[in-house]
Amino acid sequence: MRLFTSTALSTACLLLEATNVFANQALSKRSSLLPTDSTFISNVLTKVNAIRKQYAAANLTWDATLASAARVKANGCKLNHTGPYRENVYWWWYVPPTAVPNFTTKVVNAFDAWCSTTEINAYKAGDLYGGGRFTQTVWKSTKKIGCAFSTNRCTQNPNQEWWFYCDFSPPGNYAGYYAGNVTTVPFETLRVVFQALRIRIY
Ligand SMILES: *[C@@H]1O[C@H](CO)[C@@H](O)[C@H](O)[C@H]1NC(C)=O
Ligand SMILES: *[C@@H]1O[C@H](CO)[C@@H](O)[C@H](O)[C@H]1NC(C)=O
Ligand SMILES: *[C@@H]1O[C@H](CO)[C@@H](O)[C@H](O)[C@H]1NC(C)=O
Ligand SMILES: *[C@@H]1O[C@H](CO)[C@@H](O)[C@H](O)[C@H]1NC(C)=O
Repeated sequence: MRLFTSTALSTACLLLEATNVFANQALSKRSSLLPTDSTFISNVLTKVNAIRKQYAAANLTWDATLASAARVKANGCKLNHTGPYRENVYWWWYVPPTAVPNFTTKVVNAFDAWCSTTEINAYKAGDLYGGGRFTQTVWKSTKKIGCAFSTNRCTQNPNQEWWFYCDFSPPGNYAGYYAGNVTTVPFETLRVVFQALRIRIY
């Protein structure tokens, strides 16, 4: 049975107050980094692969099709888990909404939120739903990733949020396969414990 754990975020209720035509016009007024931008791709891969290394998972590679799908979803300006991929979603807003994001920082913020201590502890406590963004990020049999920011802040929504989607393939978070796909004790923790032992013994 497949678990769409990231729907945990669907408690957010966003009101779409404009037609799609209006939304698209608004979106073109300001631009985020394109999902084809090499700096953006490198930022994502550096961050996600550093996290995966900590949890004994091999590198992901970039996939333009996933990135295009992520862009469509991000520009939808809401949670949208339809389609064949697994997605992690992150969104934020500013007061006032006209602030310009630092997209380099936002990539890091998103992955740090998805792999926060809260997420990891939820997973360790058996809450597959609460830890779903972490487990998808480090899922060993997932090979490819593609991410995108919304083109602009979502002016049709009350908070005028920015949205960031990462789509993963093959998808993770399959019930019954967590133990083989998710390593919960980071190597860094093991190293520190090992060093502590050495200091004590020698
Ligand atoms: C894994 O990915 C990181 C960041 O993208 C890269 O620096 C590193 O060389 C990659 N390692 C392998 C074994 O491909
Ligand atoms: C939701 O995602 C699907 C792709 O799976 C896309 O076709 C659709 O336009 C999206 N809806 C919104 C509101 O973004
Ligand atoms: C964005 O943040 C990065 C690091 O988080 C920093 O190196 C860079 O200077 C910032 N860019 C701007 C335009 O502030
Ligand atoms: C990892 O999960 C995939 C499904 O996403 C499954 O097919 C595979 O057998 C799992 N690997 C292990 C070692 O459990």
